[in-house]
Amino acid sequence: MEPNPFHNRLQIITTNYKGTSKISKTLQDAMNEQINAELFSAYLYLSMAAHFESQNLAGFAQWMRVQYQEETGHALKFYKYVFDRSGVVTLKTIAQPATKFKTPLDVFKQVLAHEQKVSSLINKLYESAVKEKDYAAQGFLQWFINEQVEEEKNATDILTMLEMIGESPVSLIMADRQLGARK
Ligand code: FEO
Repeated sequence: MEPNPFHNRLQIITTNYKGTSKISKTLQDAMNEQINAELFSAYLYLSMAAHFESQNLAGFAQWMRVQYQEETGHALKFYKYVFDRSGVVTLKTIAQPATKFKTPLDVFKQVLAHEQKVSSLINKLYESAVKEKDYAAQGFLQWFINEQVEEEKNATDILTMLEMIGESPVSLIMADRQLGARK
């Protein structure tokens, strides 16, 4: 049988790739923690969605379900990246999220506080990547830094709207329609 001319070459490329760009244990562990944090975020937003379903605020529930999907997507980005850098993914227990909520305003105050916490986790990850001079990880994490600006802005915009609405049921119904348009 003819030897495959690309075989050796492919092996060399693979070896070099693994040899030069394997993620450090510290960053790998921190990214595994972040997978857990993103999945917890997903779970928290799904719990908020369930709360809104029970309050007949279908639009708010829809917004939260989309957010749940986004967070799952964030977890998967980290999952894939750890493998791309020849690391190991270890999934951990996801904590139970809150199940009792008050007004939509209270819920969005919690959303903003949660996203601010996630931003600080991402920033810490980035700081580790800088310390390790891992430029590839810095490039990867930049997407999340930008995403967190968006996440905090979205939560702040809705929070501001809910503060303006106050106790008005008609305005709340209109906000429910607006949030329900999220795809
Ligand atoms: Fe994945 Fe909302 O941060």
